[in-house]
Amino acid sequence: MDWDAFFTLHKDLPREGPGCAEDVLWALERAGLSGEVTVCDAGCGPGADLEVLAEALPLARLTGIEKPPQFVKEARARCARFGDRVRVIEGDMAEPGGPYDLIWSAGAIYFLGVTEGLQAWRDALTPSGWVAFSEPVRIPGPQSEAAREFWAEYPALTDLEGVTARISQAGYEVVDHRLIIGEPWETYYAPLRQRILELRAQGPDDALVEVLDAHEREISLWEAAREQIAYALFLVRPA
Ligand SMILES: C[S@@+](CC[C@H](N)C(=O)[O-])C[C@H]1O[C@@H](n2cnc3c(N)ncnc32)[C@H](O)[C@@H]1O
Repeated sequence: MDWDAFFTLHKDLPREGPGCAEDVLWALERAGLSGEVTVCDAGCGPGADLEVLAEALPLARLTGIEKPPQFVKEARARCARFGDRVRVIEGDMAEPGGPYDLIWSAGAIYFLGVTEGLQAWRDALTPSGWVAFSEPVRIPGPQSEAAREFWAEYPALTDLEGVTARISQAGYEVVDHRLIIGEPWETYYAPLRQRILELRAQGPDDALVEVLDAHEREISLWEAAREQIAYALFLVRPA
């Protein structure tokens, strides 16, 4: 991957994976979280969910963690209006610090592995702490060729039961889950599609063309199988 080309495409996009504000609010409501709580957004990307968390929890202290400085910069700028109750750290989400009442992580735990990530986060939780994370899932029913190709680079893909087994292996229990399908993917792909068009019109170099082609292919596969391609958002806590 040519990271310069990657960030030419991904710079200043609203978010870096499927999701929406309702997902965040659902998790807070199901966990009954409010007041002076501590929250971590592990792999916060440009800060879309961190912003929703900070708005929904006006008394909370929040920490976003990201690796690439570009995303750290974007998340900091986006959350600057919340002052020092929201900080964004350039670091490794495998060592998130804490303790937190909630570790939120949208589309990022697969970088660590579900079991490994949850194990790493266990000591970062308060005694009544929660983790809410989204993870790719295969949903029941026939899988089209497009859906299979879409996930070809994620051999760890499994179904809801498979992810639940990985959660149990880490010593956690699932309290609830919901599917992320359709519109929250469009929320991610619509600005990306637009950016690809703009960059194509500017005469991109070979490295950028390669990145644009790969993303365009990903979006086309999703468009061809949008009802079969899902993440699930899991709300879990140590068992
Ligand atoms: C698919 S993106 C999702 C970003 C964000 N949660 C969102 O929904 O917009 C996954 C993010 O995890 C970050 N990431 C991956 N491994 C990480 C690590 N070990 N520590 C911190 N961030 C990491 C990546 O840089 C990337 O921004």
